[in-house]
Amino acid sequence: MSETVLDVRDLEAGYEPGVPIVRGASITVDKGEIVVVLGPNGAGKSSLIKAVAGLVPISRGTVLLDGKDITAAPAHTMVRLGLAFVPQTENVFPLMSVEDNLKVACGILERRQAPASIEEMYAMFPDLARQKRSAAGNLSGGQRQMLAVARALIVHPKVLVLDEPSAGLSPKFVAVVFEMLAAIRKSGVTILLVEQNAKAALAIGDRAYVLVEGKERHEGVASTLWDDPVVAELYLGQRPLKREAGGAA
Ligand SMILES: Nc1ncnc2c1ncn2[C@@H]1O[C@H](COP(=O)(O)OP(=O)(O)OP(=O)(O)O)[C@@H](O)[C@H]1O
Ligand SMILES: [Mg+2]
Repeated sequence: MSETVLDVRDLEAGYEPGVPIVRGASITVDKGEIVVVLGPNGAGKSSLIKAVAGLVPISRGTVLLDGKDITAAPAHTMVRLGLAFVPQTENVFPLMSVEDNLKVACGILERRQAPASIEEMYAMFPDLARQKRSAAGNLSGGQRQMLAVARALIVHPKVLVLDEPSAGLSPKFVAVVFEMLAAIRKSGVTILLVEQNAKAALAIGDRAYVLVEGKERHEGVASTLWDDPVVAELYLGQRPLKREAGGAA
């Protein structure tokens, strides 16, 4: 039986009272899964996961983490509760060294645990070990995302929540980031991922949701979702037209 780690039910959230951006969204993430949230620009994908992470006010619905109600938990308590959120940008301290970025991320661990935890991340991300003394701001885009993910993973969260980790990266680094996520999942980490890069995300994901106007409109197995006609329609203009021999789409 699968075990639900994250259970988001009928969530309504927004930045101003009475103006919901997330409008009754429900998603689940089971232990060991990569779940992908897709959707057009402005659909509320970032707002949804920020609300889950305690960064956008919630006006209705619940967020359960391992069965525990964390709907009202403030953002700064999320790491301790087991939810690690990696924002799209500003997810590392650019002027600090790689190692100091990792040290700061050890915050909730006992002090004596930190060195071993940092070594664990270096074993997982050899690029970071090689550049431990470099300022994070000098890393390549792909390596910076690696550091952001390592900072989140270092405390062994129950779920890793990522907002567009491949955004703004060149194709080479996009591939690096997706390979990294697939490897992390293989090591047993549960992942909720928002991505614009639908094809690459569906290739590593188990299940996916398509969010439209703040609500999930479609859910399916990631590997088949790309060819789903409903998704094609929801995504109209967001993906290449179907390759129909000579026919109009
Ligand atoms: N800080 C904010 N204050 C007020 N409104 C916001 C804020 N951030 C986002 N919004 C609004 O919420 C809506 C959804 O934005 P959101 O960033 O969640 O969408 P998204 O699906 O992540 O889009 P994208 O694919 O472009 O990242 C938009 O209309 C946006 O203008
Ligand atoms: Mg977004």
